[in-house]
Amino acid sequence: MIAVRFADKKKNTEQDSDWNQMRNISRAQIRGEKNVEKFVINGGHPLKGEILVSGAKNSAVAILPAALLLDVPCMIENVPDISDVKICLKVLKGLGAEVKALGNDTYWISCRNVTDYYVPYKEAKKMRASYYFLGALLGRCHNARAAMPGGCPLGARPIDQHLKAFEILGAKQLIEDQQSDIVELHADRLHGGRISMDVVSVGATMNAILAAVKAPGITIIENAAKEPHIVDLANFLNYMGAHIKGAGTDVIKIQGVEKLMGNAGEGSQDVAYRYAVVPDQIEAGTFMIAAAATRGDVLIKGVIPKHLEAISAKLRDCGVTVEELDDEEAVRVCASADSKLTATNIKTEPYPGYPTDMQPQMATFLTIAEGESSIIENVWEDRFRYVNELRKMGAEIDITQNGAIVRGGSGLSGASVNACDLRAGAAMIIAGLMADGCTEITEIQHIERGYADIAAKLRGIGADMKKV
Ligand code: UD1
Repeated sequence: MIAVRFADKKKNTEQDSDWNQMRNISRAQIRGEKNVEKFVINGGHPLKGEILVSGAKNSAVAILPAALLLDVPCMIENVPDISDVKICLKVLKGLGAEVKALGNDTYWISCRNVTDYYVPYKEAKKMRASYYFLGALLGRCHNARAAMPGGCPLGARPIDQHLKAFEILGAKQLIEDQQSDIVELHADRLHGGRISMDVVSVGATMNAILAAVKAPGITIIENAAKEPHIVDLANFLNYMGAHIKGAGTDVIKIQGVEKLMGNAGEGSQDVAYRYAVVPDQIEAGTFMIAAAATRGDVLIKGVIPKHLEAISAKLRDCGVTVEELDDEEAVRVCASADSKLTATNIKTEPYPGYPTDMQPQMATFLTIAEGESSIIENVWEDRFRYVNELRKMGAEIDITQNGAIVRGGSGLSGASVNACDLRAGAAMIIAGLMADGCTEITEIQHIERGYADIAAKLRGIGADMKKV
């Protein structure tokens, strides 16, 4: 029997005030008073040189909440300087964690004083990954409360598989109303269980790991997602003393442990374990496509070439040279001015298939590849809003039932375009770099959720790009 509890008055008032603030922001945006920052790109310059990739957004936004599960402080390195990370850190601090920045990509975090389990409504609404606080807080406090997560508008983004996993592990939803915008969970006790995911979900797999890692008994996650960030989260937790096997395959087995404190003894509150987030596969892929699209020659450093295989294979199909330099942790991408670039077909799939988060960038590149390319989107139902923006720049793209057809070969011209979401924004940057003339990109706050210092990084390899 699921208990029903109503949110207390104080939290409702906070929520109302958060809502009002959000509504005011949107009105101000409509009046053009906020978020007037833009990227301005003068295109047509081949990118050349070396560029360094930051830590992975999708790892960092799970590993930071995972710090709530630790019984000792930790130091997380290679954390990207992006707005989604800032939100995670703000939520951690709001819950009572001590967070110290050590340089611009390392954070010392101690959660010893955390007792709260309410994620502020406004922060939860700002990003999809706020759902990781549900799994981490449930694992820590056996209670968790957050708003339904926000994030890029890519169509329906349910969290039923997350909730199913939590329930199998012993949690109940305290707000029964299916339409509720709030998720509140409580477990008298958590325990291991067998979770068979109905769909392959990155977030649900990571959340099941977070909730199960300290749950007594054995948890099996079947039909698990295999993305590099799942392996990264498991590596971090195992380093701290968890028993997680099989991350990176479709069956993950977890033996619950009582404490997560590395090999520190009881009371060793001063030990801080260091862990570095893996390189960002999607940022690396975005730079690879930018290099190819501008017919440049770029060494992309600080990457794990294996994570990029699906992207490398598609670029090679189109006639781009991609060298994987495992020992140097780099890939080199080049396409000379006279190399013939040809069409290809893309189907997005969970890892190790072609990533959906690289679909808009590849579609943009394909506008210069001769012939007709077909794109099939299998993960998100509404991931083609960027097509209208590319059309403003002269792209010939038709939308089909679950995909698009790109008729390539003609090139793009500069225009004023909008970053409709994070990866659509990355696609607009590539389009601006490829195009003749000047491109202005608005709504760049979407891009800054996931790309650290992107204008400066691209300027370092010859882009004429600035933020104004
Ligand atoms: C994560 C990434 C996102 C990426 C996506 C797919 C983060 C923070 N975000 O999102 O950038 O595009 O993986 O690689 O890591 N689904 C359900 N029920 C659920 C959960 C998901 O039906 O409970 C469906 C979704 O609607 C979607 C598919 O499963 O069609 C995959 O979604 P999922 O892997 O969960 O994506 P996210 O974790 O939200």
